[in-house]
Amino acid sequence: MPSAAENTKGKQVSPFHECNTSPLIQLAFSSLISASVKNISTRIAGVGAYTPSRVLTNQEMEKMVDTTHEWITTRTGIQERRIAAPDEATSDLALHAARAAISDAGIDPRQIGLILVATASPDMLFPSTACMLQQKLGLAPVPAFDISAACSGFLYGLQIAHQFICNGTHSHILLVSAEKLSAITNWKDRSTCVLFGDGAGAVVLEATHNSRGVIDILLRADGSYHEILRVPAGGSAMPVTPDVIQQNLQFIQMSGKEVFKLAVTAMQDIVEEILEKNQISPQEIACVIPHQANTRIISALADRLGLPMDRFFLNLHRYGNMSAASIPVALAEAKAEARLHPGDKILFAAFGGGLTWASAIIEW
Ligand SMILES: CC(C)(COP(=O)(O)OP(=O)(O)OC[C@H]1O[C@@H](n2cnc3c(N)ncnc32)[C@H](O)[C@@H]1OP(=O)(O)O)[C@@H](O)C(=O)NCCC(=O)NCCS
Repeated sequence: MPSAAENTKGKQVSPFHECNTSPLIQLAFSSLISASVKNISTRIAGVGAYTPSRVLTNQEMEKMVDTTHEWITTRTGIQERRIAAPDEATSDLALHAARAAISDAGIDPRQIGLILVATASPDMLFPSTACMLQQKLGLAPVPAFDISAACSGFLYGLQIAHQFICNGTHSHILLVSAEKLSAITNWKDRSTCVLFGDGAGAVVLEATHNSRGVIDILLRADGSYHEILRVPAGGSAMPVTPDVIQQNLQFIQMSGKEVFKLAVTAMQDIVEEILEKNQISPQEIACVIPHQANTRIISALADRLGLPMDRFFLNLHRYGNMSAASIPVALAEAKAEARLHPGDKILFAAFGGGLTWASAIIEW
């Protein structure tokens, strides 16, 4: 299938042709691009979140595995999580969040030139969850693909979208992070099942000439640690067989202690690096939106930065770890609670399987 930029008849057209915006807007945008691609940045034009209605409390978990509300809250901060319905797939969660973000941005969905979905729990190995979402939004033939970077997926997606916007390929991109982790959780393993939850968050990213928007994004990965947080089976390395199922290898496995230590160091280092690189002091950050895995990891980051905990937006007590979806759901809630003001510098930090980790600073 030809790309939108190639046009269906192979004719070279404006890269914004696929946006279906008015010819006047296309012309204005094309002139801006040719004037100076370098002056373009990315702003978050709209945010949206969706979490399933079913609440699974720690008290209910006590009846499922050998655990206590007290253990879960003191070790992680989590009090409850959301669980998707059996007939709700990751793309269904994504759809709700995407619609909310599009509505918040106040754009015509046909302006969207690219759909990205960050997920560690896709509907299926392929087609991508992004394609499933595109179909549900009725946005064919807009390009769509998934990003696999576990809990860092939203920030990896932000960087990919930012590059497409800065190089002038797209003016509007829909980035959704969605997870149905309950489908890949071993509900008999107390060391993991108490940690995760389902949900989706989305942003509409828009090209801007205003100084407000993305200031910087840093991405990192170290595959030598791939075994400490993973779903071993279900891919080409270990196809699912009855034997694999009997050993529960199709579910999330994690060496919690090891992941914890690496998460603390990696998140602190990458946050200090992005602040130093951009000559921004921690005190200039109005709000930190970290990956929501564990309150202790976040308070260690607060200590290292010398920031009070009230500068951090936390919602993990209500949702647990929603992997890639954690940051955009927190972002949408922070906006809804009027925690973000024009001109505020917002810091993001994530850490997850891969290992992957990342940070970003935006001006709201
Ligand atoms: C998972 C985590 C909360 C466990 O906390 P911890 O303080 O490291 O706990 P440990 O793994 O040392 O386990 C301590 C004990 O609690 C037990 N335990 C584990 N899960 C339990 C549960 N749900 N309820 C009660 N006891 C539990 C362990 O079996 C262990 O018992 P033992 O000492 O008799 O062997 C913590 O390691 C963590 O948050 N890790 C990082 C998780 C994370 O961020 N993952 C995602 C990255 S995106």
